Amino acid sequence: MLRRITALLALVIVVSVLVNSPELIQAQGGQERGQKLYMQYCASCHGVDGKGGGVVAPEMKTMPTDLTRIPKVDGKFPALKVHQIISGEVGYRAHGAAEMPVWGQVFRRQTGDRARTQLDIHAIANYIESIQVR
Ligand code: HEC
Repeated sequence: MLRRITALLALVIVVSVLVNSPELIQAQGGQERGQKLYMQYCASCHGVDGKGGGVVAPEMKTMPTDLTRIPKVDGKFPALKVHQIISGEVGYRAHGAAEMPVWGQVFRRQTGDRARTQLDIHAIANYIESIQVR
C-alpha cells in the first residue's frame, strides 16, 4: 500500500515536472516522437488528422473523440488529464470508454520501462496539444 502511494507520488511529480518543462521534451525530440507514436497507436481510431475518423471508427459503438477539440480546463489544454486518459489512470471506463485501450500497460509491456512509458505518453499528449484548433 505504502509502496503504491510512493510510486504514485513519484509519478505525479515526474508528470508535473514534465508538463511544466516543454523545452525538456523538445530537447528530447518529443514532438516528433509524439507524432510517430500517435500515428502508430491512435490514428487507426482517432484518424490521421485527429478528428476521429480513423479506419476502424465505423466499426465502433462509441465514436472516437475528435482530439483536435479537447475542451480546455481553466483556459488551458488539460495535459495531465489527457496523460491520465492515455495511461488509464483515470476511471475512464466509468464513462463508457471500455473501447479506448489502456496504453499505459501496453507501452510498459513493450519497453519494460516505467520512465520511458511516461515520456512516451507525455510525448503523445504533447502532440495532441499541438493539433488543437485554436
Ligand atoms: C480502438 C480505438 C481507439 C484507439 C486505438 C485509441 N482510442 Fe482514444 N478513444 C476511443 C474512443 C471510442 C473514445 C471515446 C470514448 C467515450 O467517449 O466514451 C476515445 C477517447 C479518447 C480521449 C478522450 C477525449 C475526451 O475529451 O474525452 C482521448 C484523450 C484519447 N481517446 C486519446 C487517445 C490516444 C492518445 C490514443 C493513442 C495512444 C488513442 N486514444 C487510441 C478509441 C480509441
